[in-house]
Amino acid sequence: MTSSQSAVDSEPTRPAQVADNGAPQPRPEEILRLKDLTVRFELRRGMLSRRKLDMTAVDGVSLSVPRGTTLGLVGATGSGKSTVAHTVMGMVAPTGGTVEVAGHDLARLKGRERVAVRRLVQVVLQDPYSSLDPRMKVGDIIAEPLTLGRIVRGAERRRIDERVAELLTLVGLRENRAERYPHQFSGGQRQRIAIARALAPSPELIVLDEPTSALDVSVRAQILTLLKRLQDELGVTYLVISHDLVTVAYLAAQVAVMHLGRIVEIGPTNSLYRTPQHPYTLELLASMPGASPKFLEQPRPAGDPDKMPAHACRFAYRCSVRTRLGDPEQCVDSDPELGAVGDRHNAACHFNHEVLTLSSTLEHAERSAG
Ligand SMILES: Nc1ncnc2c1ncn2[C@@H]1O[C@H](COP(=O)(O)OP(=O)(O)OP(=O)(O)O)[C@@H](O)[C@H]1O
Ligand code: SF4
Ligand SMILES: [Mg+2]
Repeated sequence: MTSSQSAVDSEPTRPAQVADNGAPQPRPEEILRLKDLTVRFELRRGMLSRRKLDMTAVDGVSLSVPRGTTLGLVGATGSGKSTVAHTVMGMVAPTGGTVEVAGHDLARLKGRERVAVRRLVQVVLQDPYSSLDPRMKVGDIIAEPLTLGRIVRGAERRRIDERVAELLTLVGLRENRAERYPHQFSGGQRQRIAIARALAPSPELIVLDEPTSALDVSVRAQILTLLKRLQDELGVTYLVISHDLVTVAYLAAQVAVMHLGRIVEIGPTNSLYRTPQHPYTLELLASMPGASPKFLEQPRPAGDPDKMPAHACRFAYRCSVRTRLGDPEQCVDSDPELGAVGDRHNAACHFNHEVLTLSSTLEHAERSAG
């Protein structure tokens, strides 16, 4: 940890890495580990109905994120990305499975240790206009995770003010900006303030939920560069959620693709972007600016996921590879598990080789046409 992450008096002690028998434990290499994470929400059928309905937002997600790296989480709206993030932040309790932060199972933590572990995870949200309290001065917003509503005076106040000045400089703002209010800053500057606030308690993991999607393209690039520099300097880990695969490619070493609450493909960014092996990943990549849109034009079933057999592949209702292969029985007979398709690269498709072939065929056709 560098001097820019120096602690202040108000910071609670870091969670101890000790075993049940009191022996010191080595720091786990992975800051985050999700094992078979499931989240179900109970919904009412209608305003006046007493009948309830279970909705599975996250369905058996397992992944791990090594310290100092970035995992990107991509997928359509409603695929469960933010719900995963909310469990990591301790805001939503899993229905099943576990969330481990720095080796601690969040569900088993209590009291001060729970507070300390939760402080290892901070968040930066999409909208810098609504995520900062307009009535608070920027210095107080950044200091809030350190003071937690306490009034601080004397030497502690001075140390916190110094820390705020240090953080403002770190994110590329002048330190004398602490006395201003959020409305006196542009969108990009506000996102820098949100990042400074997230960094204040020296977190080990920052959840970035659509961190640049509310920003103009040029400002977006500046914020991404800042995030990358901060990671290099501080060694902080990111879990970045975005619809924008360009943003994810820039930041992430590893990418997980979510569809209907599940991970359908996960792997090193290079491998996943160059050799996608799930039709849904190929579809997402084909929608990127400048990519080949030919895959999106392929015939596909116009099905309804709720009308498919329970054991069918969860993507079968709209899978163009299934149509291309003449509706093979396997697609409706069994839902494929995530399986190894390369080095640390996993995909959940019975016909992942066909996806690879199709991807290179379409790319070739596109190049020949262009
Ligand atoms: N508190 C909640 N109560 C009920 N349903 C919820 C709740 N939070 C999320 N959901 C539902 O869970 C599903 C997953 O939502 P989530 O916000 O995780 O998706 P997302 O991938 O982040 O989508 P987006 O890209 O639009 O932000 C959605 O169908 C959503 O409506
Ligand atoms: S198993 Fe079949 S339906 Fe599922 S993604 Fe692969 S090709 Fe498509
Ligand atoms: Mg979301």
